[in-house]
Amino acid sequence: MTSKSIATLIAAAAGSLMAASAAEAAGELNLICSADVVICEQMLGDFEKAHDVKVNMVRLSSGETYAKVRAEARNPKTDIWWGGTGDPHLQAASENLTLEYKSPMLDQLNSWAVKQAESAGHRTVGIYAGALGWGYNTELFAKKGLKDPACWADLLAPELKGEIQIANPNSSGTAYTALASLVQIMGEDKAFEYLKSLNANVSQYTKSGSAPVKAAARGEAGLGIVFMHDAVAQTAEGFPVKSVAPCEGTGYEIGSMSIIKGARNLDNAKLWYDWALKPEVQSRMKDAKSFQLPSNKSAEIPKEAPRFEDIKLIDYDFKTYGDPAKRKALLERWDREIGAIAN
Ligand code: F6P
Repeated sequence: MTSKSIATLIAAAAGSLMAASAAEAAGELNLICSADVVICEQMLGDFEKAHDVKVNMVRLSSGETYAKVRAEARNPKTDIWWGGTGDPHLQAASENLTLEYKSPMLDQLNSWAVKQAESAGHRTVGIYAGALGWGYNTELFAKKGLKDPACWADLLAPELKGEIQIANPNSSGTAYTALASLVQIMGEDKAFEYLKSLNANVSQYTKSGSAPVKAAARGEAGLGIVFMHDAVAQTAEGFPVKSVAPCEGTGYEIGSMSIIKGARNLDNAKLWYDWALKPEVQSRMKDAKSFQLPSNKSAEIPKEAPRFEDIKLIDYDFKTYGDPAKRKALLERWDREIGAIAN
């Protein structure tokens, strides 16, 4: 072989290597997942198995994701945001941070999921729903002789000092849902008075929404204010956790998904979006002990999922509490009146 033909071969090999890496780059998807890490990883694995796309995933709570998406608005590093409470998705939509997309799967979805999309000009869509409540450690409560907490009012009992955990509403969508729900149930001033009294019993404001009930399951706390499906997940893991729907009524989430405006891998983002709305994908969520109500009408509702029919739900005002100005005002007040006195 002449030195010229060797050079030609080397050039050809380098060329095909470059082509391969270009194809690989075209096959990527940058995902932020705002649900529990176990379901995030299951979704990632299933998607990669079904498609020739490499998914780069970051797991962040809902409020953290919203902050990141806002901060990166001029130079987005994320293509798709899957999971997390609907309010910050609505807030991002109204700030034009997410892309309008009408999935061909829309007509397979429950009305609450479609309404979520329509109210945001199709810049987001509902993927699951779940009610807010709490989970408490029955063994620890029995051992300490504590009364079963059935109502929001019960959580103020002085005997519960140091027993409660709830997330910080700046980072967590769960805790923002709790804040907005209490404001809707009690009125804003009364809700902040309630939260101030509750603070006396709170040992920790966590970053992630489901962390409080994981702590309660392990006996590190008595009770975690969380979505009920996250409490049920701990029971399904074998921990002595009882989930409660508060007697005065409670709010709920429409967990959502949005494509980020300026997504570099837009086709893959749409591929994920349509795929994540499929019944067989949503029916698999229970395998990761993710017990929300699925948005696809044909997806299997897990037997463990707390049913809305059994819970006293408020008519949660997503328009008002999904508004960026409302979010800012409520969180500033929370920082001033609760964050500042937090233990
Ligand atoms: O763990 C699942 C979940 O409760 C979802 O249902 C919800 O959308 C998300 O976590 C909220 O997490 P965070 O409160 O950390 O934003």
